[in-house]
Amino acid sequence: PAEPVTDQDLTGRSVVVSAGGTREPIDPVRFVGNRSSGRQGAALAAAARARGARVTLVAAHVAADLTDPLVAAGVEVVPVSTTAELRTAVRRAAVGADAVVMAAAVADFRPVAATEAKIKKVAGQAPPSIELVENPDVLAELAAERLRAGQVVVGFAAETGDETGGVLEHGRAKARRKGADLLAVNAVGEALGFGTEVNEVTLLDEHGETVAKAAGSKRQVADAIWDAAVARMTAS
Ligand code: CTP
Ligand code: CA
Repeated sequence: PAEPVTDQDLTGRSVVVSAGGTREPIDPVRFVGNRSSGRQGAALAAAARARGARVTLVAAHVAADLTDPLVAAGVEVVPVSTTAELRTAVRRAAVGADAVVMAAAVADFRPVAATEAKIKKVAGQAPPSIELVENPDVLAELAAERLRAGQVVVGFAAETGDETGGVLEHGRAKARRKGADLLAVNAVGEALGFGTEVNEVTLLDEHGETVAKAAGSKRQVADAIWDAAVARMTAS
């Protein structure tokens, strides 16, 4: 199908998008991971490309049926697995980028060390514990360092409400904590978010103030995010 006609408002711009979910090895056959499909990140990459950008997609376990059309459209896809690999690839590409969007679900913790041999169960022995350490916060680092002057940094927050606050309350607190220019907050659970075709996000600024709301396909949400990101880019 033909590309939808869009403004070429990212022509001459270079952007980085991370997508999918990182995996942290426990042993040669097992990992700590998450359910992120990479669809929102793929939609962000496709939308940016259609708007004229040079696009690098750092893809953590994103299915080939999502990345193949992007490669065909001229997106540079960098496959990664662990958070350490994703961090290195994102930072390398971010050095020359006008915008970085962290749509990947990054593992918060990783096993202290993966065992070389497969963990075996031993009759009569208690199950092993897996000791975890915290991963670096790639988004917070990017927001604090700005690898290129004037770079627009965008994060995502998949939230559920709980006894300490609702989805938006958690989102506002996270927006202030992360220091990104934009945080796209969406409610997960109740058939929204992970693995689904439609999405609903509220875009917050670094103060936690709402700047836009977007609902619809992941492509429509992606375009709303690029609208807000372009508005924050300085003239070059
Ligand atoms: N993120 C990141 N590095 C991490 C964890 C998260 O870059 N180690 C990024 C994600 O890509 C996303 C944003 O931070 O853009 C928010 O992720 P989220 O998991 O919602 O936030 P956390 O700070 O990890 O907080 P929580 O305890 O709610 O998981
Ligand atoms: Ca997290």
